[in-house]
Amino acid sequence: MSDRLQAIRGMHDVLPERSPLWQHLEDHARSVLEAYGYREMRTPLVEPVELFKRSIGEVTDIVEKEMYAFEDRGGDRLALRPEGTASCVRAAIEHGLLDQPQRIWYRGPMFRRERPQRGRYRQFHQIGVEVLGLAGPDVDIEVISMTRRLWRVLGLDGLRLELNSLGDAGERARYRAALVEHLAAHADRLDDDGRRRLTTNPLRVLDSKNPDLAEVIQTAPSLLDHLGTESRAHFDDLCAGLDAAGITYSINPRLVRGLDYYNRTVFEWITDALGAQGTVCAGGRYDGLVSQLGGRDTPAVGFAMGIERLLDLIDTSGVDTGPDAYLVALGEAAQGAALGIAERLRDEVPGLSLLAHCGGGSFKSQFKKADKSGARLALILADDEVAAGTIGVKPLRGQGEQRTLALDALIAELRDTRGRMA
Ligand code: HAM
Repeated sequence: MSDRLQAIRGMHDVLPERSPLWQHLEDHARSVLEAYGYREMRTPLVEPVELFKRSIGEVTDIVEKEMYAFEDRGGDRLALRPEGTASCVRAAIEHGLLDQPQRIWYRGPMFRRERPQRGRYRQFHQIGVEVLGLAGPDVDIEVISMTRRLWRVLGLDGLRLELNSLGDAGERARYRAALVEHLAAHADRLDDDGRRRLTTNPLRVLDSKNPDLAEVIQTAPSLLDHLGTESRAHFDDLCAGLDAAGITYSINPRLVRGLDYYNRTVFEWITDALGAQGTVCAGGRYDGLVSQLGGRDTPAVGFAMGIERLLDLIDTSGVDTGPDAYLVALGEAAQGAALGIAERLRDEVPGLSLLAHCGGGSFKSQFKKADKSGARLALILADDEVAAGTIGVKPLRGQGEQRTLALDALIAELRDTRGRMA
């Protein structure tokens, strides 16, 4: 029996030594999204539970099994958001943003009570994008191009793009009937979940990972064969646009997604390097959702990527996790001058990250701390240096001898390296 308090299973702390890696990814994502003119929106983590029921769908794993839903002390039925699209649409309607197209991005924690495993957490983090008010395949191509650019910037290869069209509601209803006929004819080969879904949400059977169902799914009719002229043209134009942009994809007629709001374009970026949780980014079109939530009829498309999964994939070995420099000070005069010199360096070198030693101690113990901090340079201040207006500089990573520089020369050097890093 331990009464030690611990984080909730499936919810993780990001410790200071890992947070530079998160920032590395978030900074790159933000600059790519802003390069396409997208602007950030921040919405509450808690929403009325009804919002998610009406958008994601009552008969989905998320709403049926995974939501953190609760009644607050005032009796309101609330939920921790399991995703960002519903909140974004709610906010756009509430604040009257729909009179012109909106290109929005967001980031933050999402909550789903799934069985935790590598790549699947109960609190996880997404960076997402929603475009409201644009109907054409051109914007579908834009959002997919944006993700491809981000993979490039992050040095990620080995992701494959899968694509499908879910058609419109009428087309899906006709397909649903054909699918139910097929599944019912093989009902003896379905598992419990499959049999239940047969009547509640048959398209989700296509998403089953149970190998026993593979053949029934493989031989099921294809949604793409049930598209009408307009949906077909949208999908063909999307494929042609991706071809023209040099974006490789494969069409997966069984890609259906786990949220009910999608129509037409759906897509996923998948890796084979993360085992079962290989989808790092997923999204699609949801032209009916805004009106379904009470807004004016507004077409929309978006996606979200899982930050934990991406961080598991990208090579972060070159990302600096320590400060630029660590200042050690030995002797009374040096300790007295150190904080002032540190302030001057921060004033004069924009962007400099300088950790100033606090708490005294021997040269050896200060130096050990400098090394452990991950800093690139140790700046060494002893009483002699203070008197002479100089400072010792010792590289802590890679090659290089200790040198003594005038403070002005150090400032010029640091400015130069910061400038090259920016
Ligand atoms: P989603 O497929 O549910 O879509 O989630 C998007 C991504 O979030 C997944 O591909 C995965 O990378 C990550 N993710 C989901 N659940 C977990 C989990 N339990 N642990 C770790 N990562 C996870 C949506 O959320 C839609 N709102 C995407 C969208 C935006 N569609 C249109 N606009």
